[in-house]
Amino acid sequence: MNTTAVWHSGPLLSDIVADGLLEVELSGKLICILLREEQVFAFAARCPHAGGRLCEGRIDGKGNIVCPVHHYKFHPKTGRNTSGEGYQLKTFPTKLEAGRIFVQF
Ligand code: FES
Repeated sequence: MNTTAVWHSGPLLSDIVADGLLEVELSGKLICILLREEQVFAFAARCPHAGGRLCEGRIDGKGNIVCPVHHYKFHPKTGRNTSGEGYQLKTFPTKLEAGRIFVQF
């Protein structure tokens, strides 16, 4: 089986407001994209706890994504469950090319 990750073309950077969250479907996978402090993060759109839609959550003062369902927190780069319940959020590398966001998986 070929498991090589490839870059998938995503939305334009200008489609996302600062500290904004945007849910997109890339090659059949639902991804939540966050723009924060001029950095772009990409992670699974569904919470690893019980499937909450993370793009409907918020960003706390430390830059964690807060799930809208039970308010567990995750670091958008590492996926670490910073509120301590022991879950892991799947995260993906991102890059920018000519103003467009690409996500690798
Ligand atoms: S579904 Fe996200 S914290 Fe429960």
